[in-house]
Amino acid sequence: QLPDAAVIVLFGATGDLAGRMVLPAIVEVHERGLMPRAWRIIGCAADELDDEGFRRHVDEAVARRGGGLPDDWAHIRGNVRYCAGTFGVDNPGRLPEVLGEVREELRRETGGEPVVIHFLAVPPVAFAPITRGLGAHHLADGARVIFEKPYGTSLESFEKLDALVKEVLAEEQVFRIDHFLGKEGVQTIYVLRFANQLFGSEWNRSSIEQVQIDVPEDLDVANRATFYEATGAALDMLVTHLFQVASQVAMEPPMDLRDPNSVLQAREAVLKSFHPLDPKEDVVLGQFDGYRDIPGVPDDSTQDTFVAARLWVDTERWRGVPFLLRTGKRMATKQQRITLVLRPPFGPLAHELKVPNTVEIDFAGEGEVALGMTVKTPGPDLTYSSGRARLNLDDVVGGEGLSPYASLINDALVGDRSLFTTAEGLRAAFTAFAPLQGPDRPAPLPYPPGSWGPEEARRLAAPHRWMLGE
Ligand code: BG6
Repeated sequence: QLPDAAVIVLFGATGDLAGRMVLPAIVEVHERGLMPRAWRIIGCAADELDDEGFRRHVDEAVARRGGGLPDDWAHIRGNVRYCAGTFGVDNPGRLPEVLGEVREELRRETGGEPVVIHFLAVPPVAFAPITRGLGAHHLADGARVIFEKPYGTSLESFEKLDALVKEVLAEEQVFRIDHFLGKEGVQTIYVLRFANQLFGSEWNRSSIEQVQIDVPEDLDVANRATFYEATGAALDMLVTHLFQVASQVAMEPPMDLRDPNSVLQAREAVLKSFHPLDPKEDVVLGQFDGYRDIPGVPDDSTQDTFVAARLWVDTERWRGVPFLLRTGKRMATKQQRITLVLRPPFGPLAHELKVPNTVEIDFAGEGEVALGMTVKTPGPDLTYSSGRARLNLDDVVGGEGLSPYASLINDALVGDRSLFTTAEGLRAAFTAFAPLQGPDRPAPLPYPPGSWGPEEARRLAAPHRWMLGE
């Protein structure tokens, strides 16, 4: 339920993520009428700004998203405050005082206690000092805390961070972002499956031969070479976004879709049934030609800019069905698609059909659901063709999609954690991913920029092919 009042304390307020994603998303939530009746933002960052300086920063960030400033902007920008300084146990700066003032204002305006949301839009090294600081200065009591990704970079670093966070916060207070879960196309999976018998009854290994989750990107990494060289495609995308999307496809039906805990439990349970990756058999890594020439990347870098993996899900529903996950930088195109590759039909046409039927969910942008099916080729002969029927989610009457960050901020405001990741779920994801961080990690194979990655990755999709691409 939407509270009457809320304050969002935004750490990393002048950083790239806050400027590109978080601030525009908060304004989007406001424009959609989804903010509480009374609200404030308190920006926190090292830059020496005053309230007005930070408001100008917000003006620019909001203007950059396109679509202009909201009509009531002149009025609502007064909701924005700023505390300069690197917040921590020994240096709380003015945050406790300003947060106290703001809470008091909101109490006066609404007569109730405001919800406090701390949004940690900061690099992971800052998670621990800020969390400790929140605890030490009693700013975490009753608050919700949003952590950006990556929440850990290995099972060990995840455990360390989790132990620290648990000292200060109860799990119910923690909202770990994986923004792919906020995408409309990913959210629609539940409904498609549970509201349509046609899909629901076939959502299993009897009807589905493969699941492909494919996120090629044509982006370069030049503007974030240092981060990328320390991270790589598999850590940046596979153990995070692609595993979470896979869990969304593979989960058992939650007892109650409207009960966040039952959704979270269903997602956790399926993440726990992800078989640990077999790096030799089931993973192909790649590095695009020219990556090592990027300033900041060593000449002998063995970092992966591409990963394709075959993931096995050890549940009755999915045993024997490969989940093929692929992503990479500098690939041929940018797309984000789940494809359920259907088994061939029984009956008179069983051996004649060359192209498998598919259910496809595009989760870039507004999202789209499509069916790849076989029909009779119009004309005198009995021959067959494949056709595609598409439903763009933007064309669904009565709806208007939210951007992923806006969707997740709205959920945090109403206290719904169902589209956030849990500690148990991340522990399971890092456990399944761990073999790829060990001595068996394969060497990345070269691939030309603008291609679909190393040829070797084709092997994983046999007897089919990757449905996107060649
Ligand atoms: C981020 C990754 O989490 O997600 C990036 O760090 C990636 O490497 C991005 O490009 C993709 O997000 P989106 O919103 O474009 O789907």
